[in-house]
Amino acid sequence: MKKGLFIVIEGIDGSGKGTQSRLLNTWLKKEKGHSVFLTMEPTEGAIGKLLRDALKHGNVEPKPLALLFAADRIEHNVQIKKKLSEGKNVICDRYMYSSMAYQGAQGVDKKWIGEINKFALVPDVIIYLDVSPDVGLNRISSKGSFRSLQKEEEYLEKKDFLETVRNNYLEQANENSLFFTINADIPLKDVQTALRRVVGRFLKGEGEKNNAELTDFFKN
Ligand code: TYD
Repeated sequence: MKKGLFIVIEGIDGSGKGTQSRLLNTWLKKEKGHSVFLTMEPTEGAIGKLLRDALKHGNVEPKPLALLFAADRIEHNVQIKKKLSEGKNVICDRYMYSSMAYQGAQGVDKKWIGEINKFALVPDVIIYLDVSPDVGLNRISSKGSFRSLQKEEEYLEKKDFLETVRNNYLEQANENSLFFTINADIPLKDVQTALRRVVGRFLKGEGEKNNAELTDFFKN
């Protein structure tokens, strides 16, 4: 049985999810004294590795890719449930909403993506960091460490593909009351402040009742 808070962070490539997840992790641990399990999808497990390889080579069709992401998630859920039951808060960088957004943008039927993910544990809150593809792509290409805009990312990171991915996220945010949208096209520290505010309310058990209010607040 679940005890910790299950937080999912979503966004297009270059939205700053990784950085924001790490900062949130540090804040929760060091300043709030919580224990946290920071994790991501694709995972570091066997199926996650297979997925990274498939993404790198672009050699798996969108439908089987969606199935592999769902399979990776089932394994991941075992680990997540265990951490939650130990009272740890879980921060997960990407989850099934990425499948909806990305595999949906690759033409896979979203209803079917929902079906193959129907056993996935539902998080307490999904924080969607919203940036335009222009901003996301700029951030990625200005990073010295970026693996180059060719190959692996070629199809995923093209502007119009990311536009569709973003629309798929916005659609989910509209339909799912667990979503909080934060405009991430603002300085990193302001995004983090917004994130901490949302998570802080959930930790106090006040998240849901303030959902509408907070969502309005962060829509700027
Ligand atoms: P990664 O290199 O970890 O990118 P990022 O730092 O942006 O998270 O690769 C993750 C890629 O996998 C990313 O481009 C999105 C994609 N993805 C899907 O297409 N479907 C999914 O269900 C998940 C979890 C990720």
